[in-house]
Amino acid sequence: MVYQFDTSINRAGTGSLKWDKYKNTSVLPLWVADMDFVSAPEIVSALHERVSHGVFGYTIPYEGVIHQVLAYLQRIHGYSAKAEWLVWLPGLVPGLNVASAAFGSAGDAVMTATPVYPPFLTAPKNQDRELLTNALVWDGERYTFDWSAMESTVTKRTRMFILCNPHNPVGRVYTETELRQLADFCERHDLVLCSDEIHCDLILDTTAKHICTATLGENVAKRTVTLMAPSKTYNIPGLSCSFAVIEDAALRNAFKRAANGFITEVNALGYAGCEAAYQFGEPWRQALVDYLRSNCDYLYTYIREQIPQIKIRPMQATYLAWLDVSGLQLQEPAKFFEEHGVGLSDGAYFGDPRHLRLNFGCPRSMLQTALERMAKAVRGRGGEEVDSRIVDSR
Ligand SMILES: Cc1ncc(COP(=O)(O)O)c(C=O)c1O
Repeated sequence: MVYQFDTSINRAGTGSLKWDKYKNTSVLPLWVADMDFVSAPEIVSALHERVSHGVFGYTIPYEGVIHQVLAYLQRIHGYSAKAEWLVWLPGLVPGLNVASAAFGSAGDAVMTATPVYPPFLTAPKNQDRELLTNALVWDGERYTFDWSAMESTVTKRTRMFILCNPHNPVGRVYTETELRQLADFCERHDLVLCSDEIHCDLILDTTAKHICTATLGENVAKRTVTLMAPSKTYNIPGLSCSFAVIEDAALRNAFKRAANGFITEVNALGYAGCEAAYQFGEPWRQALVDYLRSNCDYLYTYIREQIPQIKIRPMQATYLAWLDVSGLQLQEPAKFFEEHGVGLSDGAYFGDPRHLRLNFGCPRSMLQTALERMAKAVRGRGGEEVDSRIVDSR
């Protein structure tokens, strides 16, 4: 089947967070992590079918959706999970907050590695936890953990490490060796390992393989909270369907207690979309990953050849590129590109203001236009007008 990833979809009037930020302007939004693609046809028809039933009462996780999640974990990731290990969530941002609240008490600490998805930095503080961070280091080939810095940073009151694998925004897929070293670090310091794996089905590097942290062995599984969702992969974040997989009963109960009364379960359409994604979505996902890989290649080639002032290091996963714009010596890089018609995520929110994050989960034509605008902006360093005709053609 041929999917229409090249087709530009007009998202105006749909309450799109991504597009409405720049409503009535000609700025192309390449920021928040959703994609400008129609989801897999099987998901769309499953939703039609569910909607045509017409009754939308309180909905609990039913056998079909549970079965598809467990079958997917086994089939794609070799993870044999059980139904009772699943805790359904309306999003992984709530999951990060619940995990921060669940383990330890006010004044305890949570660790992570930066740059990272901003809620990793805000969730611990929201829950009165101290936030401890260490920057990832570039070892000449890849970003990895700064093990010795982590040993100096961890405190007796540290209760949890939040891992982002694949890592948003640097696009790393951590190896078994790195994950084992991290698990060992968590074991020695008695930390819960909260493993956010939301991007695990978007691996672009054909030599890399995602390893679910909890599959590393019993010792690791018993301190791991895995956070997952079909939302990034199948472009259904607006359906609010995510889940945690927590094998250890004590951890799971603590997590559920922290969520109790604050976190609703998933809605009827979210379950239907999730079930269809994992049951039928694999061919679409494969085609999507191919398309994203070619967008990624295009982006890297374009930047290398046309905007060499921007540095971009190899990435292995996600549709979120991490651009080092420090060479441009701009006061406010995100604002600069926004003023030249491209809306990017400001690296400051991820813990590194020298970078911008670019979302290439969009039709190639849009990516091309955005890159042309960026190149023009860098060449001109201000003053040039945006070509507003793009608004009509999107
Ligand atoms: C690492 C990571 N975790 C969680 C989320 C968001 O999850 P949700 O939309 O389910 O709250 C994102 C979104 O980009 C993400 O990159």
